[in-house]
Amino acid sequence: MKPFSLLLAALFVFAACSQPQPQAFHVIPMPADVTVSDGSFCVKGAAVHFDDDLDEASMGAVLRFVEAIETATGTQCKWDEGGMTFRVNPSLASEQYSINVTPKSVTVEASALNGFVYACETLKQMLPAAIYGKEAVKADWVLPCVSILDQPRFAYRGMHLDPCRHFFTIEETKRYLDVMTAYKLNRFHWHLTEDQGWRMEVKAYPKLTEVGAWRNGTVIKKDWGSNDGIRYGGFYTQEEMKEIVDYAAKRGIIVIPEIDLPGHMVAALAAYPELGCTGGPYEVWTRWGVAPDILCAGNEKIYTFLETVLTELMDIFPSEYIHIGGDEAFNEEMGIPWEHCPKCAAKMRELSIKKGPMAKHYLQNYVTARIQKFLNDHGRKIIGWDEILEGDLAEGATVMSWRGTAGGIKAAAKGFDVVMTPTDYAYFDYYQGQERDKEPFGIGGYLPLEKVYGYEPYNGMVPGSEKHILGVQANLWTEYIPTPEHLEYMLLPRMCALSEIQWCAPDKKDYARFDASLDHTFAILDAMGVNYSLDCRGLVGLDRIPARSPEELAQLEKPAW
Ligand code: ACM
Ligand code: ZN
Repeated sequence: MKPFSLLLAALFVFAACSQPQPQAFHVIPMPADVTVSDGSFCVKGAAVHFDDDLDEASMGAVLRFVEAIETATGTQCKWDEGGMTFRVNPSLASEQYSINVTPKSVTVEASALNGFVYACETLKQMLPAAIYGKEAVKADWVLPCVSILDQPRFAYRGMHLDPCRHFFTIEETKRYLDVMTAYKLNRFHWHLTEDQGWRMEVKAYPKLTEVGAWRNGTVIKKDWGSNDGIRYGGFYTQEEMKEIVDYAAKRGIIVIPEIDLPGHMVAALAAYPELGCTGGPYEVWTRWGVAPDILCAGNEKIYTFLETVLTELMDIFPSEYIHIGGDEAFNEEMGIPWEHCPKCAAKMRELSIKKGPMAKHYLQNYVTARIQKFLNDHGRKIIGWDEILEGDLAEGATVMSWRGTAGGIKAAAKGFDVVMTPTDYAYFDYYQGQERDKEPFGIGGYLPLEKVYGYEPYNGMVPGSEKHILGVQANLWTEYIPTPEHLEYMLLPRMCALSEIQWCAPDKKDYARFDASLDHTFAILDAMGVNYSLDCRGLVGLDRIPARSPEELAQLEKPAW
């Protein structure tokens, strides 16, 4: 290079990172081991190199990171050695990574896709929030000098979404996955079937979506006997669901689909009434709550139906776990069809199930065990809501503890694997603030950010059974969440608190430190164009989502559930 060009190049580098001011270390979830030192590395226009043995998926993760740098800095990186290096280190666990930043280099090591994804996400959070945006921004594009070795506490770090009570498009679902990626979650529990709408295209049963995906109205606030009379629905084609599986997989996220059975099946019954105890007719439900009508356990047709649906499902979703629901099968007040059905009675006789209050649970165990065997024979495992524990649960099932923590504690003590998702700490449809009249209308409950953060999944466990806790998940049911802005408002920043429960060892958790990092997270979410609640800053939510109507305000007088 001629001296003049050298001078120009030096000036360019100087201009790119003239006043390196790395921000304080505000990464969520906090990495396990972090040592920050003086100095910084400029990423703008940096050289990037990765080892030849990086697999394609890991290269994809690194490329997405480099593209983000190029977009946000407005400057191309160079493919060359001597800057940022991404290396395979087989001695690291699959979700572990290390980062070493010096003034001259950044070295990232991981052994597999998830490690590389998390390293890139940590690096992004160490940069100005505009790295998450879609346009070039002038900023101090520097990383602080730091040495990090990081890995998660739990292998299962889940977030659930109910697209049945309200429907969310494929693009909206991808945004949901984007925020999950930013906070290192790795399981997306997609609740695809409900009384109020069946969302999965099934080629062998086309009426599931022709009929079952559409309801003739949505409940008006807490008046569960009424509805607005407006037809509502939607579904995902198999191609669209594959697109979600692929999008998630590239980010280290496994999609766990749920077919909720034998309850929460009214939409399927509306499409195929012969699957119910009475034969119908049934209508896709326009109420919330626990519907009385469920699949007829004594009718062989339901097993053919479920096995066909699950066969198509397994072609779309490679997840080892398939969620089979199992919650809220019985509505005692509205009547239990299994108790008046000759086919169910015959099945109970065949199984020698004695009459009495437990009979329905044993019959549900039979349905669960049959589906479990079918899925096991196809190399899959079942996970179900904690009701599947009532009666006799077959070995090898995993329990999702939602009705508090007791079910999970009991299941783990009995040797079942468990995912903790208790209402008290992990139901993100609950209100975030106490001033309900200033919050978007919700189902009830109260779950502020700090309470989520305080959850410790081992509390109350029988000593020795902790190894059965695979991890933690939060659930987002959408009865009262009709828009993506509102969905994101309920999700964030509570999902960030969840991420520290899932990722950080208990001694690394510190609410004051977490809270001090939130402003950076809010800037990140702004750059991503994602909505969030500011309740934790005392700014309640109505200005963050569309205003409430007078009818909504009137409904606030009614008690929460
Ligand atoms: C549930 O909330 N019904 C699992
Ligand atoms: Zn029946």
